[in-house]
Amino acid sequence: MKKILFAFLTLLSANTWAQVNDPGMGIIPAPVSVKRAKGVFAITPETSILCDSPGHKAIKYFAEYLRKNGYTNSIVDANTMTKNAAGVKNALLLLTAGNPKLAPEGYELKISDAQVVLNGKGPGLFYGVQTLIQLINADKRGYASIPCGNISDAPRFSYRGLHLDVSRHFFNVEFIKKYLDVMAMYKLNTFHWHLTDDQGWRIEIKKYPRLTQVGANRAQTKIGNMTGRNADLYDNTMYGGFYTQDEVREVVAYAAEKYITVIPEIEMPGHSSAAIAAYPLLSCDPGKNYKVAETWGVFKDVFCPSDTTFRILNDILDEVMDMFPGKYIHIGGDECPKDAWKQSDFCQNLIKREALRDENGLQSYFIQRIERHLNASGRAMIGWDEILEGGLAPNATVMSWRGEKGGIAAAQLNHDVIMTPSSAGLYLDHAQGKSRQEPLSIGGNAPLSKLYSYDPVPDVLTADQQKHIKGVQGNLWTEYIATPAKAEFMLLPRMLALAEVAWTPTAAKNYDNFSRLRIPRHLGKLEARGYNYRVPEVIGMSDTLLKGGQFKLELTPTVEGARIYYTIDGFTPRETDLWYTQPLIITVPAGREIDLQAIIITPAGKRSNITEMVLDNSGK
Ligand code: ACM
Repeated sequence: MKKILFAFLTLLSANTWAQVNDPGMGIIPAPVSVKRAKGVFAITPETSILCDSPGHKAIKYFAEYLRKNGYTNSIVDANTMTKNAAGVKNALLLLTAGNPKLAPEGYELKISDAQVVLNGKGPGLFYGVQTLIQLINADKRGYASIPCGNISDAPRFSYRGLHLDVSRHFFNVEFIKKYLDVMAMYKLNTFHWHLTDDQGWRIEIKKYPRLTQVGANRAQTKIGNMTGRNADLYDNTMYGGFYTQDEVREVVAYAAEKYITVIPEIEMPGHSSAAIAAYPLLSCDPGKNYKVAETWGVFKDVFCPSDTTFRILNDILDEVMDMFPGKYIHIGGDECPKDAWKQSDFCQNLIKREALRDENGLQSYFIQRIERHLNASGRAMIGWDEILEGGLAPNATVMSWRGEKGGIAAAQLNHDVIMTPSSAGLYLDHAQGKSRQEPLSIGGNAPLSKLYSYDPVPDVLTADQQKHIKGVQGNLWTEYIATPAKAEFMLLPRMLALAEVAWTPTAAKNYDNFSRLRIPRHLGKLEARGYNYRVPEVIGMSDTLLKGGQFKLELTPTVEGARIYYTIDGFTPRETDLWYTQPLIITVPAGREIDLQAIIITPAGKRSNITEMVLDNSGK
């Protein structure tokens, strides 16, 4: 059978293994401007590495990179000689001085065969170092080379965010640092740490120890599908975990070394079952029995807008502000059912007393009271787009997640906005393909290409309103993500697309270049650095039916060093099947069809989904 089908194939001699030959020099996120030149700069043990600001975080980072990768060169403080550095041969210069024209966070990198000159402004030097490291080709003899060229770069958005939900599942400090590491490699600068929710309170608050003694633990966890088949499946196992204040400070300091600001999220007034289980007096019905939620969704146990609640929340926020020095505190504000407030005499009287329109007005009252407390401490409040309901707090920044509508409304009211619409691929808990081969997820379909094509600036806004779009964020909710390996699988490579949306001007984006030329190399490197990721499907075919008798298919693997295996006989492709090395010329005899299936298998054994294409010459 196999022999006969094999006769349909003719193998061409051209080698299609995708050599990285990107005019953009393979950098993710793509810089504003890249001019590639001939030749390379060789890093040898004799190369001088000079800087003008040895205490700069970028210099410390690069020194650590050199040490970890076995380079013996040290970075020399050459402040006094940088004026003459233009004449130094075989030198790599890392400079902060003399760059007044650079945009905020910008850098310029000039690589000739004699010299590398990186010039950065503030964090720009750090981002330039990330680019430089991406360009270094290590070679087996202990030398390395950097391709020649000129790069000029600065971010499109000042807010380049990534979120992690540690309530639904807890991730330890070691993992958080690894998460921050990969963010920094791709020039993301804001970590949104979703610390509290119905299923667990994960941050130590000294004044209210029950928040973690009680609120950090749930009796069991739903492990079945969100709805439908196996939806009733639970693990019957106690689950808990939280960060001490020392650990939180350690994370904040670690992030700051990489120019990442950490925004804590303390959810209110909804998504607060865990806090209410710890302190029922936060609810409108303190006599009721409450528990930390064991399943997913939206819960009716919400904070009561009482003076007691505000006193406790203000105390909590005071401790939080003490741990997090950044400008923003995120107070959630999303998905707050109003049932408990409708049933509460206290709430109904409060609505009357404050002349509020209804329960939405009460939500607005709640958020505005909290905002006053944050503003009084010199901080800015950020919340999900539900904080628009009933009237926006005067200084709030809106995180638009239910599409762009909330973000557009907020920008039109001259409020700052972070775009993270779940419908545009920014929800990284959604599946990465429609395939039944994807692991269990909360649902949705947010493939790499969808996120990549997102533009956070809506056309309907005027130029002035568009300035309120401060940036973009990807969210990793963890209902169905219980392990670091799965978190990385859901994150990568989509986070690389997020980085390009956040950093790269629209004119410099190109999905074909990104997916075909750059992703394979970056995934190869991430694998070497110990990150898990999802192997994107083979490029050059898709799950479809093509009619005809004569086909030429050029397939590209999506991970450097990976192999494509395929079958044409209806069997599942595995390592023992046909190894793709050259374009396929397939002739399908009249009246027949061929079922072509392909899989990518990486050097470490990671596997892509199988793509199945029917080549149909049946004449039907
Ligand atoms: C959200 O996804 N509830 C912000």
